[in-house]
Amino acid sequence: MTKRIGILTAGGDAPGLNAAIRGFGRAALGQYDMKLFGFHNGFRGLADNDCIELNSASLSGILTVGGTILGTSRDKVHRMVVDGEEKDMVPHIAKVYEKNKLDALVTLGGGGTAKNALKLAKAGMNVLHLPKTIDNDIWGTDDSFGFATALEIATEAVDRLHSTAHSHHRIILVEIMGHKAGWLTLGAGIAGGADIILIPEIPYSIDKIAAKIGQRQASGKHFSVIAVAEGAMDTDYARKLKAAEDLIKAADTPETKEAAKRHKEVLADSQREHTFALARQLEAATGLESRVTILGYVQRGGTPVAADRLLATRLGTMGAAAIADGESGVMVATHGTETTLVPLEKVAGKTKFVPVDHEWVRTAREVETGLGD
Ligand code: F6P
Repeated sequence: MTKRIGILTAGGDAPGLNAAIRGFGRAALGQYDMKLFGFHNGFRGLADNDCIELNSASLSGILTVGGTILGTSRDKVHRMVVDGEEKDMVPHIAKVYEKNKLDALVTLGGGGTAKNALKLAKAGMNVLHLPKTIDNDIWGTDDSFGFATALEIATEAVDRLHSTAHSHHRIILVEIMGHKAGWLTLGAGIAGGADIILIPEIPYSIDKIAAKIGQRQASGKHFSVIAVAEGAMDTDYARKLKAAEDLIKAADTPETKEAAKRHKEVLADSQREHTFALARQLEAATGLESRVTILGYVQRGGTPVAADRLLATRLGTMGAAAIADGESGVMVATHGTETTLVPLEKVAGKTKFVPVDHEWVRTAREVETGLGD
């Protein structure tokens, strides 16, 4: 019997989403005789039953296109704002799933989307997840599509900043995305030859950074390019953050938990624009003029590189095969050169951070890149 499959993209967009929709769709329609329905704007479109049938014409010409033809949002299934109020939309979504006679739902997204997908799976829907994020922080998979493209973009920025930093004898700090993980900054910093790389997993000390810049000056290099992860932090902030997180864990009533969470939010607020604050501190410590470049959303835009197109197509086609085999409650992951299925239960709620002894960290140290520690 022809299977009816829903598909949606949720969370921040990333290059390769359309390649994955196409990969899944072509295999689903062409190899497994399925029908495919695209829901708009993430879980919001699912709740609103806002969907279109995808056919071979709508799947054509999208392999190289950035963004997502379906649109996306950061709406959560259990806390969706409807008529100004947060509602648990899972029971309603289950009805939409039934009404459309869906046999499975495919979610394309990161860790947050995996959590939402698991909630739907627990409510009885057949869900399959494809890992997308420029952050490369999804637990249970070596790769996620979007990362390779963002890595190229960030690396090119680090490259280009060298000549201007050199000409003006300046420190240039380039802030790179990655949420709470340092993969993108570490990768782009190594590939672009940043002099110093700061990632959340290795809290930095201003004195250590200033000393490294001082060494460079002493050897005649009167400029430095610093790759700073958006989640990077100094040792003092790291200590305060750990204390705030411990407070949340230790809270034993809803009131104390709320208060502890608020405390953490206030702390996080104090960290806004931390790259600018760091630039000012380094200017004072080294006497070198400092400038900041925030790469921001340029890292998520535009056409996916070949590696992301290939990965997205592999994961998409593997996803269609898995649904044809009756798999559900799983994420299609990569492990080395293989594609595998990982239970969503194992993925949801976890983050893949850079291990401090990771080979990339050792590589950076070997080429004498400062890591601020
Ligand atoms: O997860 C992708 C990402 O681009 C992160 O690197 C960044 O922290 C976040 O999304 C930005 O989110 P938003 O698009 O909601 O501003």
